[in-house]
Amino acid sequence: MYAGYNVTDLVYNSTFEEVIYLLHHRELPNASQLEQVTAQLCGERVLHDFTKQLMVTLSSTTSPMSMLRTLVSAASAYDPDGWVVSTDHAANQRKAIRLISRLPQMISGPERLRGGKWPVEPSTDLGHAANLLYVLSGEYPSDEDAKIMDQCLIMHADHTMNASTFAARVTAGTLSDIHSAMTSAIATLKGPLHGGANEQVFEMILKIGSVDRVAEEIKGRLARKEKIMGFGHRVYKAEDPRATILRELARELGERKGDTKWFEISEAIYEVVNSEKGLFPNVDFYAAAVYHYLGIPRRLFTSIFAASRISGWTAHVIEQLHNNRLIRPDSEYIGPGPRDYIQLGDR
Ligand code: ACO
Repeated sequence: MYAGYNVTDLVYNSTFEEVIYLLHHRELPNASQLEQVTAQLCGERVLHDFTKQLMVTLSSTTSPMSMLRTLVSAASAYDPDGWVVSTDHAANQRKAIRLISRLPQMISGPERLRGGKWPVEPSTDLGHAANLLYVLSGEYPSDEDAKIMDQCLIMHADHTMNASTFAARVTAGTLSDIHSAMTSAIATLKGPLHGGANEQVFEMILKIGSVDRVAEEIKGRLARKEKIMGFGHRVYKAEDPRATILRELARELGERKGDTKWFEISEAIYEVVNSEKGLFPNVDFYAAAVYHYLGIPRRLFTSIFAASRISGWTAHVIEQLHNNRLIRPDSEYIGPGPRDYIQLGDR
């Protein structure tokens, strides 16, 4: 649920732009509010020259998620609303929309440079999801692909107090600024136990390569006590409802693209993991096949997750700054008790 709305209803009825507004304002926008937020998102897409230069300098020597983290951090330098923390709610919302709007360009630019291509200037009128696919490939996506990208963005937008959201709130809770909080969040999403799992899922699918190899490979991994990426969740002990939708999107895309292999391998992995361990897929599992079918390079999967989750992160940070209290978890020390200092020469 986002602000009381079932995510499934949002996936089938709304757009990512509506969901951004919902997360930031806790109400769905009316027509003129939607027009306004859409115009803001379209109008903020062009990156500052400093950011463009930075990606030229660093893209070939950093991983995509590290590049994204660095670009978001650096973007604070030239943000028109400044780099210091602000209790000005409107300024924080402008900064948030600016970052959401620019993330596709911060993801696609370095990737194109890595492939020896120049970044594509963003569209000024495509929807957010369509523009994301456009700046990656330089080609206008089909309406069907843009719709599925949009649905993926909606599904990944927010998810209770997950690790990256918590990191963002902890950073904002010290009265640090939005760019710093987003930098913490991206750094936290990167790990394979969180957002990084989707890249590992597709690596596993590629390595397995065919349905007839699934059982042996998965059982081997389980016997070696290896984690199967894309399965298990700290909160869900049943199938993540977003995985159910993503499974259908993967099936639909595979059939439409005439290439059902990756979907079939995903299904076979699910059957074995579920029967052997009773584990269910999380949001990262079928997202891997969906992103692949959409033509997104595997090493960008986690960055694409960030392009969506930044809507939720910013909503949380704006809320934190609006009514702040330092987040300071307690911990229990279990080491040695009080003892006498030992001089260096006596150790
Ligand atoms: N493959 C195999 N076994 C698993 C898996 C898995 N994917 N997930 C959990 N288990 C097993 C553990 O080995 C453990 O077994 P044990 O009790 O015999 O030791 C038991 O299930 C409990 O697992 P924990 O890791 O303790 O569960 P926790 O809540 O700490 O971890 C996590 C949740 C990190 C998501 C875990 O399930 C995992 O590593 N999954 C794979 C990575 C992944 O898909 N991450 C993305 C999560 S969704 C997201 O962040 C967007």
